[in-house]
Amino acid sequence: MRRAERELDWPALDRLAEAHPKGSERKYLETRKWLERKLDAALLLGLAAGPPLDILDIGTGGGHFPYVARHFGHRVVAVDLPEIALYDALCAWLGVEKHDVRVEARTPLPDFGRRFDLVTAFMLGFNTKADGTLFTLDDWAWFLDDVRANQLKPGGRLLLKMIRQAERCGPKYGDPELMRLFAGRGARFLEADRYAIFEPLR
Ligand SMILES: C[S@@+](CC[C@H](N)C(=O)[O-])C[C@H]1O[C@@H](n2cnc3c(N)ncnc32)[C@H](O)[C@@H]1O
Repeated sequence: MRRAERELDWPALDRLAEAHPKGSERKYLETRKWLERKLDAALLLGLAAGPPLDILDIGTGGGHFPYVARHFGHRVVAVDLPEIALYDALCAWLGVEKHDVRVEARTPLPDFGRRFDLVTAFMLGFNTKADGTLFTLDDWAWFLDDVRANQLKPGGRLLLKMIRQAERCGPKYGDPELMRLFAGRGARFLEADRYAIFEPLR
């Protein structure tokens, strides 16, 4: 991983930072930090060894997780909202092809032409609906059903990393009803990282 990092075009990242002087996405310019975190996640998921997997990364942001997973030989489809200039530029800089996809409540994810061994969503934001409220429990159940039925291979895994979203109305990570729903679908929880890992998603 260190060698892969060294091979990145770091002066180009400086130019990219200058070209995008504003916006909350600028925190993702701290490439080493984000690659380190995603490396930890990849190790947790056992991605450093074993056969190549098909992975879908939802809300990929700057593409740091796909970059790490690809380093270990996995095939990753990276998706995010369209037209977030710095995310697009970071993905391009890392050589991660990003597809424009908006996840919406009770709307199936697109057909990507293949099934996945693993679906990931780190620090996810797609559970905020158009009216600013969060996915209800039924919306979550719908999403989990869609991922299991239409995206995952049999026995496939799902990783969700949730952020606080304290200011929003609706079920949040840590709320007993949401944790019960997730646990009932096969999740174990790593509290420190706020990871829910469904192994497999049921
Ligand atoms: C906090 S960032 C995390 C980025 C990346 N996963 C990471 O861990 O570095 C949340 C991401 O979710 C994306 N996102 C938010 N709402 C979305 C939606 N409805 N559909 C797809 N992506 C969404 C954002 O554009 C952003 O890239």
